[in-house]
Amino acid sequence: MRKRLEKLEKLLASSGGEVYLYRVPGRVNLIGEHIDYNHCPVLPLAIDREILALVRLREDNRITAVDTKEGFPRVEFAISSQIEPFEGGHWGNYIKAGVQGVIDEWPKIGCRGFDLAIDSNIPFSAGLSSSSALVVLAALVFLGANGVKVTSKEERLVLAEACARGERYTGTQGGGMDQAAILLGEEDHALLINFNPLRSESLPLPKDYTLVVANSLVEAPKTRSAMDAYNRRSIESRLATELLSHALKMEYGRGAIEFIGEVQDPPANLFEVVKNSPYSVSEIAKQLQLAEDEVVKRWIVRKDGSPLPVPPEGFLLAMRLQHILEEWERVKRSAQALRKGAIEELGELINASHASCRDLFEISCPELDTLVEINRRAGAIGSRLTGAGFGGCTLSLVPTSLVPSFLKEVGEHYYRSIMGRSSWEEALFPVRGVRGASVLEI
Ligand code: GLA
Repeated sequence: MRKRLEKLEKLLASSGGEVYLYRVPGRVNLIGEHIDYNHCPVLPLAIDREILALVRLREDNRITAVDTKEGFPRVEFAISSQIEPFEGGHWGNYIKAGVQGVIDEWPKIGCRGFDLAIDSNIPFSAGLSSSSALVVLAALVFLGANGVKVTSKEERLVLAEACARGERYTGTQGGGMDQAAILLGEEDHALLINFNPLRSESLPLPKDYTLVVANSLVEAPKTRSAMDAYNRRSIESRLATELLSHALKMEYGRGAIEFIGEVQDPPANLFEVVKNSPYSVSEIAKQLQLAEDEVVKRWIVRKDGSPLPVPPEGFLLAMRLQHILEEWERVKRSAQALRKGAIEELGELINASHASCRDLFEISCPELDTLVEINRRAGAIGSRLTGAGFGGCTLSLVPTSLVPSFLKEVGEHYYRSIMGRSSWEEALFPVRGVRGASVLEI
């Protein structure tokens, strides 16, 4: 910590202004993948990998940011009511997203700027929310610089929602899990997060077990194609929701829904309206009694308004829906298992989640599947991909007594034999549940 702070002090723009130190953790998701944007509950935790940021308040309306790592060019921009993004994929957009999210939520906020020096040990493009941590950091610092303190749980919940909306500025059509976990995390606890309204319940993590993260080393960057892959899942969910909503209104005389998580007490056979073969846009349009271009314009678009390419195999909506409904149930059962201390059962649910992410939601990749197998052979009672997928990390639930042999075995079998690495401490590590983002004493 001392060393990181010294690095930051050297980096921060020189004179004047009060200086603060912020700590913003990453997160790992225990279970509940790709269902937050459907407003179904999820079960993540904030982890002991974090951004440390030294902040100096400025007298003008400019924001600057530098990072201790190479490949992150210095960022500078002025605060305004509509901040123009940098080009797609630029890391500075996450800073802008946090600031824009605050401006949209608190339009009367001041416009005092700040200088940021950032040092992060959250692996990048690895599904541990290094980007949402930047969004939350920028939002918290901007609020603080302009005299708004975020302390109570209620205030943190409001901010988490503002940051989730703000992050869409970067083009991802994500949900609100990451920002909530980063802001509401608690020592040695996972968070059962529910949406609409956003709320969280902390559940103690199992004693005698350790959570171990393993990076597949397949990068899951938020580039245009990776963003399209992620957003396609969000769009498929939206299309399935529209089909359900239409049927609820037209066939069952019920109210419309906006999110699958709102389906309570479904009429028998409701889910069969989403048919079990690939959909073309024209079939979706027909079922919804809309024109094709209307369907595209409303739902199958990127942030810049361009249409998202339709996958050649069509939209596999029934498979996606099955994942969402079953994963929702698994989250509920996992929360129950944590409350009861039924950890073997939690392990099985984690394993089932991976299978569903791989086969029904199709967000895994061969490396993640191999790594999950190796993790299980090395003693994990549950192992799955975590986060957005398409690369990134696995999370394993390992009896604490087995952790040393687990690390050795996974290291040898995945990192040495398959990836040709001679060391892997940076890729394979235990994590703990930690408190959400905070300002530290310097
Ligand atoms: C990303 C998004 C989250 C969530 C996960 C998948 O981390 O930011 O909102 O959808 O992917 O569970």
